[in-house]
Amino acid sequence: MAQSGKQGSRNQTVLDRLKIIFGITVVAAGTFFVIIFYIFFASGGQMYFYYPYTYPETITMVQTIFPIALALIGLIMFLLIAVLYKCIRHRPLKKSLTVISSILAVLSVGGSGIMLYFASPNIPFWFYDAGPYLTWSNNQDASTGITVNWHSSWTTGSSVRYGSSPDHLDFTATSSDFSQFHHVRIDGLLPNTTYYYRVDLLNAGMKSFKTAPVGNATFSFCVWSDPRENNPYDAAITGPNMPAIMEQQTQLAGKKREFSVCCGDITARGVDRQTWKLWLEDICTNDFACNYSHAVSFGNHERHDDTVGRNLPLFYRYDPTTYSFTYGQVHCILLDPWNVSNAYWSYIPANIYMWMEEDLQAHANSSFTILAVHAPPVFWDGSVASNPADTGGSGAIGTQIVALASAYNIDAVFSGHWHGFWKYNLTGTLYYGIGIGGAESSGYGYGRVDVNATAMVVNAIHAETNTIFDTATILA
Ligand SMILES: [Fe+2]
Ligand SMILES: [Fe+2]
Repeated sequence: MAQSGKQGSRNQTVLDRLKIIFGITVVAAGTFFVIIFYIFFASGGQMYFYYPYTYPETITMVQTIFPIALALIGLIMFLLIAVLYKCIRHRPLKKSLTVISSILAVLSVGGSGIMLYFASPNIPFWFYDAGPYLTWSNNQDASTGITVNWHSSWTTGSSVRYGSSPDHLDFTATSSDFSQFHHVRIDGLLPNTTYYYRVDLLNAGMKSFKTAPVGNATFSFCVWSDPRENNPYDAAITGPNMPAIMEQQTQLAGKKREFSVCCGDITARGVDRQTWKLWLEDICTNDFACNYSHAVSFGNHERHDDTVGRNLPLFYRYDPTTYSFTYGQVHCILLDPWNVSNAYWSYIPANIYMWMEEDLQAHANSSFTILAVHAPPVFWDGSVASNPADTGGSGAIGTQIVALASAYNIDAVFSGHWHGFWKYNLTGTLYYGIGIGGAESSGYGYGRVDVNATAMVVNAIHAETNTIFDTATILA
């Protein structure tokens, strides 16, 4: 009798515990559904159950981690309630409550599971290490400075050790970034000098860069555009790695590639962090952007589903609407005329136009001036674009750029957006369509520009065959 009494009491205890666990979900599931409806209303009537999400870095976190965290809070709350109930009433919870709790438990766990399933493709893009990759910041003198960027899995501080010998990284540059997105500007360097650097918090090893020469030098740079189709929305890079190809072929040709310019559409879908990660992986292959600066003129795809450009400044800190640099005898402007009120490059806003004029005047003594702008101001047939981004509406962007190019002797304008190659000479400026970086059916190609004291030779190269299919010589 004593034995079975003891067993019965044990069973009662187990049952009580089970009831408590079931009951826990009342609070958890309730909170869970409150959150779902919050998201429903907060998102203007959209339930973010489709993939890929808008703003995956916040919504998927809300949809996965938040409900789970709330379920945990609910659990703790219910435990407290259940324990108090048991202590005060000396009775287990009612059977009806147990049944309701069971149903809610299934719904809650099921709902979180579904959310986790939909979020899972994006989870690797929340936490990853990428870089370092080099650019220049706004108003940074390329002969005395560089900007080191990287993405880290976790939020950390930002510092770079550097020096003129790999054994003596005697200097440290820091920025106030305490984030996963790092941008450290280094200034005060000597021109035409190789430096070595290391990001200690990133397991990428020693990298190097060379500051720009002052005045005439012999060097090459690459210009390319529209690689994005290598990175479809939800897949890894499947096309040839263009940066790796450019690097190899430039070396094979015996050229010194000192920097590169990309005319935009670097991501498949700017809102989606995974396309940015793929981009960073792409440009860091063969140290393409780790050892050489790579300047990017932004395209419409960088704003795909992200028209206000939330992700842009996370990966590239410079203001892309007023960005230029001088490398030796070449001055380069990267124009991003986009703004919120002018979403499709139909004209250059007055303040940006004024900045361009000032910048061109200030660098009038450069032997060569080039402009990189995503959507072409002049087409293959010489027609001047009113709205080169083919998105409807009309404007004056083509006329504005042609006027600037003619007034300030811009030698070459490079564009992409239309996925093909062309060249057109209009009032002494060569307008290039170089949107052959891999997107869609354009094939693979890029431009290699060989510069010396007297000439700038623009070679269009088939990446797959490493053959030059178009050459133009621009004299100083
Ligand atoms: Fe494109
Ligand atoms: Fe485009």
